[in-house]
Amino acid sequence: MGEGRTAGAGGGRERGGRAVILGIETSCDETAAAVVERDGRVRSNVVSSQAELHARYGGVVPELASRRHLELVSPVVREALDRAGASLGDAEAVAVTAGPGLVGALLVGLSAAKALAWARGLPLAPVDHLHGHVASLFLEPRPLDPPFTCLLASGGHTLLLDVRDRAWEGVRVLGTTLDDAAGEAFDKGARLLGLPYPGGAAIDRLAREGDPEAYAFPVARVPGLDFSFSGLKTALLYAVRDLPPAELEVRRADLAASYQRAIVRALAGRLEAAASGTAAIVGGVAANSELRSALPDAVAAPLELCSDNAAMIASAARYTRALTPPESLVLDAYATAA
Ligand code: KG4
Ligand code: ZN
Repeated sequence: MGEGRTAGAGGGRERGGRAVILGIETSCDETAAAVVERDGRVRSNVVSSQAELHARYGGVVPELASRRHLELVSPVVREALDRAGASLGDAEAVAVTAGPGLVGALLVGLSAAKALAWARGLPLAPVDHLHGHVASLFLEPRPLDPPFTCLLASGGHTLLLDVRDRAWEGVRVLGTTLDDAAGEAFDKGARLLGLPYPGGAAIDRLAREGDPEAYAFPVARVPGLDFSFSGLKTALLYAVRDLPPAELEVRRADLAASYQRAIVRALAGRLEAAASGTAAIVGGVAANSELRSALPDAVAAPLELCSDNAAMIASAARYTRALTPPESLVLDAYATAA
């Protein structure tokens, strides 16, 4: 987990308007920048998705992602400032995702953030992407106060977290996936069903037309609070392989609905088992409509803050120790969870 303390980013460089934090996120295939006020109000949240670029390859191509981030990062930052009606002079800190993620992609955001912070004499807050997802719950208008139990389900991670504090140091991992992440299971399932990448939203849509009880896909029985999705993916593979092509067309919605039901059961079941008090869901998969309705009492991140964005990164920066030169200039990206 991160290096920071609860101290929070920022040097209080208020000039004219309210002091803001500029957030930058480039860990995967979204180039994102946002302007967030210290009290958690989101002034702008710009996300430029590369999904179309990667769709023809059926997944993210790291080198293409880095190159596209390089083209987009400056215009996206400019647009975030414009939409917020702010300038760099209003910023009290720059926040950037340092990891985990694709290192080449992360380095583009990190270099841009270092350059902006250096040029303006601003502190630089290195944010852990997973802390960012949790911090999507700390933003206005309905910020959530710890303690709570959080399911973080995205394309790269599936974690059950005990959130005791808004700083990353106050978060403990209760369970994780032993193989694929939940979002990865959605994406791989979508591919088997002939749906476009990224598959989570496509399965979500198609599942509405299908019968979730049509197929009895297994929910892995892993001891404790861990998850496993690889057996489910294999079960779908066999079900698809056993169907003649014309029949597959007819059963596609039933397959999608049953497959989604199995993932949602695993996620909701584990969260309910782990949470004695407030439960919350964050990350791309938290946008799933069946998961949201299966957990009516859980606090769900707002839809626009579920998938990768920079508002959540700026939010996390409020609870992360910010760095100044020379520390900020030697900051490195990391690929896997710290
Ligand atoms: O958090 P996120 O944007 O990126 C990562 O940090 O990985 O999550 C992306 C994942 C993808 O696997 C995508 O298929 C999934 O979230 N996703 C969904 C939905 N929308 C996005 N999965 C299920 N249902 C959805 N509606
Ligand atoms: Zn993410």
